[in-house]
Amino acid sequence: MKKLNTEKYTCLEIFAKAKTEGGKIRLVSGKGSIMEKEASSVFYTWMKFPVEQGMEYEIESGACEVTLCYLSGSGDILETGVRYLEKEKESGRYLPAREELYYDSPIRESYHFAPWKNWMNDPNGLCYFKGYYHMFYQFNPHGQKWSNMYWGHAASRDLVHWVHLPVVLAPQAEIAERPEELVGGAFSGCAVVEGGEAVFYLTRHTEPREDYRKQVESQWMMKSKDMIHFTEEKCVVGEKPEGASFDFRDPKVEKIGGRWYMVLASAIGGKGSILLYESEDMEHWSYLHPLLTEEREGIRSFECPDFMELDGKYVAIGAWMGHRDDCGRLQMSRYYIGSWKERKLETESSGWFDFGSNCYAMQSFAHEGRRICIGWISDFYGEHVERENGAYGSMTLPRQLHVRDGKLYMMPVKEVSLLKGENLYHGEKEDVSLTCIEGNAYRAKIRFLENTWFSILLGKDGEKEISLCNDEGGLRIVTKGVKSEGINFRADVKEVAVLEIYMDRRVAEVYVNEGEAAGTKLFYNSSSHGCFVLKAEKPGNIAEAEVSLMNGIWNGKEGKR
Ligand code: FRU
Repeated sequence: MKKLNTEKYTCLEIFAKAKTEGGKIRLVSGKGSIMEKEASSVFYTWMKFPVEQGMEYEIESGACEVTLCYLSGSGDILETGVRYLEKEKESGRYLPAREELYYDSPIRESYHFAPWKNWMNDPNGLCYFKGYYHMFYQFNPHGQKWSNMYWGHAASRDLVHWVHLPVVLAPQAEIAERPEELVGGAFSGCAVVEGGEAVFYLTRHTEPREDYRKQVESQWMMKSKDMIHFTEEKCVVGEKPEGASFDFRDPKVEKIGGRWYMVLASAIGGKGSILLYESEDMEHWSYLHPLLTEEREGIRSFECPDFMELDGKYVAIGAWMGHRDDCGRLQMSRYYIGSWKERKLETESSGWFDFGSNCYAMQSFAHEGRRICIGWISDFYGEHVERENGAYGSMTLPRQLHVRDGKLYMMPVKEVSLLKGENLYHGEKEDVSLTCIEGNAYRAKIRFLENTWFSILLGKDGEKEISLCNDEGGLRIVTKGVKSEGINFRADVKEVAVLEIYMDRRVAEVYVNEGEAAGTKLFYNSSSHGCFVLKAEKPGNIAEAEVSLMNGIWNGKEGKR
């Protein structure tokens, strides 16, 4: 019978909860030596067992519920990632997971980043460090719903192919001890690279379950020299300023004009605000004032704010927590472009960050002259379909940002074109009908000679549909037969000259006019086939249309790394 072999790995990490008090995980090596650890019966214990390389082991977990298990600690982990283990149903043995059970699903992205399994939200700590892009993210390893937060971690050499790395941060001990009373954990934050180190800022959140308004949030800092080992966290902003609401989180740090600034999510006087701090040494922070306050009602807080210098302008971006806009869209993110005077943002123009509203908590970072951002593909309309080994949440394609004519432009980074596969259609001046696209992972690009009314069917599953339409109502994503039906996902553009559409099974991302607007929308399709059916009022206005398959980014069946 097949046995688990540790190969090049030196550590086994298991997240386990005892079924009854005293429940243990036991590890028996091929030499007969036994290690065991007791799991808590109220919350998951994150256990790390040192293991010998190239040794056979058996994991005995019958007394516990195990939600995640992997081998880590190899010298080349940034290159090849962790090795996930799964308990084989027949033998009850833990063996390297069969990747196709996770990746080969019509409701699972093939070229967008998603966690190995379970819940993910905001991107955190995005940066480029010693040859790799790093992405951390809000993670619940124990299920497909939001709960106490850990930081997941992934790395990439090219921004499109990622490897999964060990979990980095866990919820506070007091939460793990009293999960019936408290909720929270390692909330969102960022990273900056300075003096050969990555410096992280994040929020620690503790909330009594009986009243979320009693939540306590503070900002912490930690460092790493190799992205595998991290220092202890240190509290750098403990108290919220006068007048700030109980929402006080999501630090984002940037160097602007030679000084360090931190923006934080909050509200002042019931209005969503981004608070501004400054520091000389990255460790001692003083509060200045709100960077901006949104006058519109109904925004509980500006979650995951960002602030940056871009193309000679200054840009603030934030997610409107709890807000519904006049199109019926939930929790839109807004950008504000302006000038920077006396350490205040004088807004000159503003707009929606993503017109599809399934994109939240975007975070940006700068590398080699590019300002790159990634957003969380969120499910605000309750459309998620839960499947065994499934992942809730994924990331948008990395987008490069620019300011042009008072608007924030964004397009997928050039590396995304590495994924372009077989061409399915190339033509002009005619409608396009591709009704059975195997794998449902493709990119379409269309250029129009002049603004033309059209509809493009991007997904169909029985009565359920998603399409992109342009007519007297403007350009918009239209859904039918799903919970977001009736919401007007419209783009703020006057005309449509160029479209780039990325379908990736349950995700549609649309880029308009070389980045003038971007829209992200989820569409759960039970079929493994996709469609692209373009009907234009005047097909003669289609200057060029091209549809190509996109290669997957994961190992095995999904394409190679
Ligand atoms: C946004 C957010 C953040 C918070 C995190 C918690 O999605 O609510 O404000 O830090 O998620 O998971």
